[in-house]
Amino acid sequence: FSVCTRPVMAKLCRSSKTFKPKKNIPEGSHQYELLKHAEATLGSGNLRTAVMLPEGEDLNEWVAVNTVDFFNQINMLYGTITDFCTEESCPVMSAGPKYEYHWADGTNIKELDDETLFPSLIGVPFPKNFMSVAKTILKRLFRVYAHIYHQHFDPVIQLQEEAHLNTSFKHFIFFVQEFNLIDRRELAPLQELIEKLTSKDR
Ligand SMILES: *[C@@H]1O[C@H](CO)[C@@H](O)[C@H](O)[C@H]1NC(C)=O
Repeated sequence: FSVCTRPVMAKLCRSSKTFKPKKNIPEGSHQYELLKHAEATLGSGNLRTAVMLPEGEDLNEWVAVNTVDFFNQINMLYGTITDFCTEESCPVMSAGPKYEYHWADGTNIKELDDETLFPSLIGVPFPKNFMSVAKTILKRLFRVYAHIYHQHFDPVIQLQEEAHLNTSFKHFIFFVQEFNLIDRRELAPLQELIEKLTSKDR
């Protein structure tokens, strides 16, 4: 069973075909080192500084590593509540009464293979459209967070996943804010939560 068979995840999975849940960044690669660096700085306190581009690193690579990481986190979190989110219980993907996401949003993502979208070899250039593909993936990740917070919060609490969800989402928000990766209007369904989660660390 893969969470990607669920309608809520389908588009996200399609656009991020290149990094399926189980597919990790290979140990020993530069991206693996970057991921370890990210984890280490996260553990050491301030999220605002933890998300910043490490000195001398490439922005595309930093965004790639973190996007893969957020994707894996969302897969895990969504995986815990997936029984509550079926085609019957979630006929549309909503985030509260005011927001609904449609299966077609006018953005067509070309399917790229692993090596071109997420080059793992140093010196292999990222494709020119990498940042715009990454932004679309991050936007879709946000929509899954929004859907979970609005429609599946009860099981999240019952499963004692709330702190985990908060931590993951807070890291995600600091990251997209740092590099301006998601349009402000897109963040509206969770605006209040975002203000609460980020105000203490301003
Ligand atoms: C999650 O974040 C919200 C908003 O800041 C807060 O009200 C709630 O208590 C947090 N839950 C946990 C378990 O930390």
